[in-house]
Amino acid sequence: MAANWKMNKLVREAEDYVARLLPQISDAREVDVAIFAPFTCLHAIARMTQDAPVLVGAQDFYYEDFGAFTGEVSAPMLKDVGAGAVIVGHSERREIFGETNEMVARKTTKAVSAGLLPIVCVGEIKEERDAGRMWEKVGAQVRAVFEYLDAGEIGGDALVFAYEPVWAIGTGEVASPEDAQDAIGKIRGLLGDLVGEGFAEEVRILYGGSIKADNIGEIMAQKDVDGGLVGGASLEADSFAKLVNGAKAVVE
Ligand code: PGA
Repeated sequence: MAANWKMNKLVREAEDYVARLLPQISDAREVDVAIFAPFTCLHAIARMTQDAPVLVGAQDFYYEDFGAFTGEVSAPMLKDVGAGAVIVGHSERREIFGETNEMVARKTTKAVSAGLLPIVCVGEIKEERDAGRMWEKVGAQVRAVFEYLDAGEIGGDALVFAYEPVWAIGTGEVASPEDAQDAIGKIRGLLGDLVGEGFAEEVRILYGGSIKADNIGEIMAQKDVDGGLVGGASLEADSFAKLVNGAKAVVE
């Protein structure tokens, strides 16, 4: 279960959140928990979670290690402050900041080689879904990753995919459990073709888009859905703790 704070929280707020979250999820060891925080909060929360089963990650990075890339942050820099994971290709980066499939593929490849777990986001916009072109878009986004990433060299635990239909992000309009399963099942099938059955079985694929405590159970119950990437409902520690414990109930 992954929290995506987006551009929210000052350092003090992040610390208060983690202090409040940890005791509430201490019985949910079966669930892998990750927090994707702004760069400015990473150091503080990585320290606080050193001995806790919580993975701390960034929401983006650049695929070169250092150099004249004003404003960017590299994989070694993220690791230096204790991050172990990074979101790659979130739809807000694709739509607002113009990230292309190629950039997403380069970032994914770099994260894997640097030992950061990438959460690679894919998803269609409303017009594409309405036109029956969900899979055309999402399938192409998944394929593009493997134009750079040498899949022969990695196991299914080297990366995570997140299917996030753009029309469901921050809108309150959650995908139906069947739609989530349909897209995620297709992604897993494609990974089987592109990389191999063992990889496809092992790789984790999350759903994201308006996850709340009252819909997490039925989404997580779908065969191919391994977890959730949560924006709005992850911003309060109590609310995110409910989702982690809700996922625990499904896993059990
Ligand atoms: P949301 O965001 O839960 O607020 O819809 C999900 C995401 O963007 O990862």
